[in-house]
Amino acid sequence: MADKKVTVVTLQEMKRRGEKITMLTAYDYCTALLMDQSEIDVLLVGDSLGMVVMGDENTLSVTMDQMIHHTLAVARGTKRALVVGDMPFMSYQVSPEQAAQNAGRFIKEGKAAAVKLEGGADFVPHIKAILWCGIPVMGHLGLTPQSIHQFGGHKVQARTEEAANKLVAEAKMLEEAGVFSIVLEAVPAEVGTKVSKELAIPTIGIGAGPGCDGQVLVFNDLVGLFERFVPKFVKRYAELAPVMRKAFMEYRDEVKSGKFPGPEHVYQ
Ligand code: KIV
Repeated sequence: MADKKVTVVTLQEMKRRGEKITMLTAYDYCTALLMDQSEIDVLLVGDSLGMVVMGDENTLSVTMDQMIHHTLAVARGTKRALVVGDMPFMSYQVSPEQAAQNAGRFIKEGKAAAVKLEGGADFVPHIKAILWCGIPVMGHLGLTPQSIHQFGGHKVQARTEEAANKLVAEAKMLEEAGVFSIVLEAVPAEVGTKVSKELAIPTIGIGAGPGCDGQVLVFNDLVGLFERFVPKFVKRYAELAPVMRKAFMEYRDEVKSGKFPGPEHVYQ
């Protein structure tokens, strides 16, 4: 079972069985390999790449070429997990045709098995155009970082009853359009639970509480490699930044002092 490839169908079955789904972001071959060996179900090549890999303020500058480059690296490190490519800002918003064409690049050039895009009812035609090409689509509702300027920052969404009802309605529209799963980001836990109960497809929460059918975290947050800020919903399972700094400083000191390379590292 452990080696069996995870597909969009597997995720639907997991929801039916009540088995939680694990998803992490990944951006390179080595990390993807470790996550796949750890039986993480879904590897999302997120546009969070812009922040945690490229060092940008937000995700808006990420390009299709950057996403394809990293998606291919992740796909090469993955045997079991479902690899999902995240459609970057302005790669699908313009028209359903643009959405289908760029989704196709994720599959053909990036070797992903599905794509994710942010947005609700307005994007149903775009989602359908991608699905017509036989490409599975994951939705993303709640805090959608590509609309950060409209939200006025990274703020928790669906806090009022009206906003919560709108989110539930949009989730149902996406399900009806044919998405295989929906990411719910930064919404109150009760909203995460309500959406998850009302949909037949799995929800994957990030800051959406334990009632979601699965959870996703940004890899760099989980292992303590991104120190600029720590959102409330992040749990740090490791503190790699100090470990790496220590290794870099030891290396620096040993090169400066002549201790490295030692005799065992030298070709005779
Ligand atoms: O880009 C990303 O990392 C994401 C996750 C936060 C779901 O979209």
